Amino acid sequence: MDKSNRYETALVTGGTRGIGFAVAEELLKKGMKVLICGTTEEGVKKAVNELKQSHPAIEGLVCDIRRHEQVKELVQEAIRLHGRLDVLVNNAGIGRFSSVEKMSPEDWRATIDTNLSGLFYCCHEAIPHMKKGGGGYIINIGSLAGKNYFPGGSAYGASKAGLIAFSEALMQELRYDHIRVSYIMPGSVETGFNGPAPQSRERNSKTWKLLPEDVAKAIVFLLDSDPRGLQSRIEMRPSEPAK
Ligand SMILES: NC(=O)c1ccc[n+]([C@@H]2O[C@H](COP(=O)([O-])OP(=O)(O)OC[C@H]3O[C@@H](n4cnc5c(N)ncnc54)[C@H](OP(=O)(O)O)[C@@H]3O)[C@@H](O)[C@H]2O)c1
Repeated sequence: MDKSNRYETALVTGGTRGIGFAVAEELLKKGMKVLICGTTEEGVKKAVNELKQSHPAIEGLVCDIRRHEQVKELVQEAIRLHGRLDVLVNNAGIGRFSSVEKMSPEDWRATIDTNLSGLFYCCHEAIPHMKKGGGGYIINIGSLAGKNYFPGGSAYGASKAGLIAFSEALMQELRYDHIRVSYIMPGSVETGFNGPAPQSRERNSKTWKLLPEDVAKAIVFLLDSDPRGLQSRIEMRPSEPAK
């Protein structure tokens, strides 16, 4: 890895909108080469075209992270494009909210398959390349819902609590391979998550929610921090949430 800009390449899952899009943009601004994915051709094309206007080093691939074979192809594409994989941001996630009684098994599976199994597939495929490259950084996007539980949030909360256990174990597995693992637990972020997309990217500066850029900046903070220390968990919440 280049010492002056230690991390050169990144894979951001779910980079077509919301937090993932902001993360991709922030990493591109740092001069990194970035590959994003989403489940639809249309979404990936739109995001790549938008980002390409200012940052040529963006590429995209359709990949449903619930499918191990597709994740294999995604990581292979990152290596084909850039020759190495330094940073993996496991951002793609969904929320299905309903009581246990009313939740369909399909919604349960979709949540766990995306937020937990997809996370495993991405790490499983990326780690050998990071080891080969001499190190890397894996950053998992969790949620405060992974420790603050509420009715109707059983599937989402279980998936994000699982992400905490997964990340803590992985951090200890990889620390001596120069692969850092951190996870970020945001509170409410203004995205289209589980609802309509915000009408405009011009957001109200007085919004009580975090903005996707806030999470993206936390990721840049992690990447820029001295490797001697490891900020393994970041909790972030709006300073002044609505009462
Ligand atoms: N927004 C919040 O308040 C909030 C708070 C805490 C944590 N988070 C977490 O932050 C992450 C991003 O959330 P967001 O608010 O940015 O959501 P979002 O605006 O709905 O964006 C989600 C992204 O994930 C992608 N995605 C979903 N399922 C996928 C799959 N199976 N394979 C590949 N890509 C997939 C989506 O692309 P396609 O739909 O095109 O596939 C999209 O790019 C999630 O893990 C979420 O749990 C969000």
